[in-house]
Amino acid sequence: MAQEPRPLVAGNWKMNGLTASRSELEAIIAGAATLPDTVDLMVCPPATLIASFAEAAAGSRIVIGAQDCHAAVSGAFTGDLSAEMLKDVGAVAVIVGHSERRALHGETDAMVREKAMAARRAGLTAILCVGETRDERDAGATIARIERQLDGSLPDRLDGLVIAYEPVWAIGSGLTPTPKDVGDVHGMIRNYLISKDKAAGSGTRILYGGSVKPQNAKELMSVPHVNGALVGGASLKADDFLAIAAAYA
Ligand code: PGA
Repeated sequence: MAQEPRPLVAGNWKMNGLTASRSELEAIIAGAATLPDTVDLMVCPPATLIASFAEAAAGSRIVIGAQDCHAAVSGAFTGDLSAEMLKDVGAVAVIVGHSERRALHGETDAMVREKAMAARRAGLTAILCVGETRDERDAGATIARIERQLDGSLPDRLDGLVIAYEPVWAIGSGLTPTPKDVGDVHGMIRNYLISKDKAAGSGTRILYGGSVKPQNAKELMSVPHVNGALVGGASLKADDFLAIAAAYA
């Protein structure tokens, strides 16, 4: 087996956080400094906090990401933010195709692909999310579903790309797939990426996301081809986020 990429633990704060949350970020920064240098760490706050968080995190172990972007550089898109704008205020990455965006904002694979391409155009890492619903899992259609999402949403090049496998039914539910089920999907994604581009495909990080907690992080993170985590709820508390990152210590 080729050497797996260095892990990344990224926190997705979703629509949580006010200016006062900077103290939580500062606690994460302070705690991260005591962790061994075996894992990359990212916090993705709401867009309103990216600039101040990037300033607070400068020179630390923590980098800042965004949660979504528009595909265009600029234009008449009221309320939207371009990848270039996110980069301009200090983001180094952007999550695209999160299942909440797909479900609540009607984002299709084709739209997600355009967003991933926009991220690269702006010099941001795209964290591209895929995952099956409970019904798809129960119908034995998980692998086919993930393959279809990759077919439709993967950008034309793999550089500057991270994949996050997030079963929709595991997000915010406290439920997680078995390590074997996680391994099956991550192995399939690894093979898929390698079939597109051998060198880049073996170096692309594949994160697991969906109810990652300090209690289950070590087990999930030791599954083959799991190269880190995309953490929602548990990333809002510095202690929990750091305990998850410590799975790689
Ligand atoms: P969760 O969310 O960790 O709260 O399940 C994960 C995600 O949606 O990225």
